[in-house]
Amino acid sequence: MVNVIGLGYIGLPTALMMASHGVEVTGTDYNKDLVAMLNAGRTTFKEEGLDGLFADAVRAGIRFTTEYQKCDIYIVSVPTPYDKVDKKIDPSYVVAACRTVLEVAPEGAVLVIESTVSPNTIDRFVRPLLEEANRQDVSLVHAPERIIPGNMVYELLHNNRTIGADDPEVGERVAKLYASFCQGEIAITDIRTAEMTKVVENTYRAVNIAFANELAKVCRIGGMDVYEVIRIANKHPRVNILQPGPGVGGHCIPVDPWFLVGDYPETANFIRLALQTNFSMPEYVLRRAHEAMEEHGIDDPSRVGIYGLTYKEDVDDVRESPTLQLLEVQAEHLCGAPMRVYDPWVERDEVPSQVHSMDEFLDGLDMVIVMVGHSEVKGKPEAFGDRILIDPRNVMGNGANVCKL
Ligand SMILES: NC(=O)c1ccc[n+]([C@@H]2O[C@H](COP(=O)([O-])OP(=O)(O)OC[C@H]3O[C@@H](n4cnc5c(N)ncnc54)[C@H](O)[C@@H]3O)[C@@H](O)[C@H]2O)c1
Repeated sequence: MVNVIGLGYIGLPTALMMASHGVEVTGTDYNKDLVAMLNAGRTTFKEEGLDGLFADAVRAGIRFTTEYQKCDIYIVSVPTPYDKVDKKIDPSYVVAACRTVLEVAPEGAVLVIESTVSPNTIDRFVRPLLEEANRQDVSLVHAPERIIPGNMVYELLHNNRTIGADDPEVGERVAKLYASFCQGEIAITDIRTAEMTKVVENTYRAVNIAFANELAKVCRIGGMDVYEVIRIANKHPRVNILQPGPGVGGHCIPVDPWFLVGDYPETANFIRLALQTNFSMPEYVLRRAHEAMEEHGIDDPSRVGIYGLTYKEDVDDVRESPTLQLLEVQAEHLCGAPMRVYDPWVERDEVPSQVHSMDEFLDGLDMVIVMVGHSEVKGKPEAFGDRILIDPRNVMGNGANVCKL
């Protein structure tokens, strides 16, 4: 039996996927409300294909509880934020979960950390727990996750994976478990390499996006179309520049690269600069909106609204979202009342200036900053009537009323 610990954006679909592929799974989360919701037959977030997967897993007998179970394999998928001051990983959730696992795990159990961790985290923070508890019989494994919200179910099935283990035989055993559903290649390596690989993958994307963001700024000053420049440059067989945007959000790309900056502050300068560049984008969008207000003679900031609160399109996750960052910048610079915000994917109240229908949102607005290209509006500028659109994601076409980054 497998006990998945932490039933959030990663743990829940992983548990469901295993259960619906014939593995006996119990999902554990210390959040009672979340477990109650799952036991009442409801999923806890919106994701393409998740409800179908949930129904399959329930039919296959998955159980949800707040209790840690006695079982052969534990998969820990709890948050790994970074300390905003020293930029190092905050391993406290992983440590707490592993400590509880060691209290209940039978002899010879395997403890798989799926949470993203910086290189050395398992050696520094988890291995000592085994020594403290005198539980050297427990095997440690790191199996980081690569799925992208919005396409999680497909990617769980098709992505390649990495398994890092002290003992290659244990690595093979865990690889076999993941191969119950994963059709991608599964690379087996040691734990530190697996830790570093995951952080490097997200750092690569952060740096590439920062490059695109810097190009957007350069092209704006130079009067060039950054999208056309990137489109043509990417025709080169060895060039693949990502797209500029209003900032980077979510639980991974704006977070994980800081682990390297925190652990290697003298060396990881280029990575630090990339993160700072990405972090500058919400303020850049705000400035761009002010310029456009002047160009179009809009002098009342309450006539400008923000469409999109999530960190990417077609998900309901708002963590580290560029819109939240933009609202913070606006508050810091005291530039007017917080802008009105609407996001069809976010029903709960996340910010005080949020409204819950497109009609209420558009009422009285002259300008909309389209921070997220949800399918509801992507390629459909008419969804906003004839209002001026600030389009930092380049999803609104090239109409006369559309202002790019
Ligand atoms: N969200 C993503 O897109 C993504 C992608 C790849 C990797 N990751 C990594 O996966 C890990 C989990 O991320 P997430 O997005 O699923 O987080 P999340 O916040 O959505 O879920 C974590 C869950 O763990 C539970 N939890 C925390 N401590 C616990 C404990 N001691 N015992 C039981 N339950 C506990 C919380 O209640 C929560 O439900 C992180 O390390 C993250 O970096 C996330």
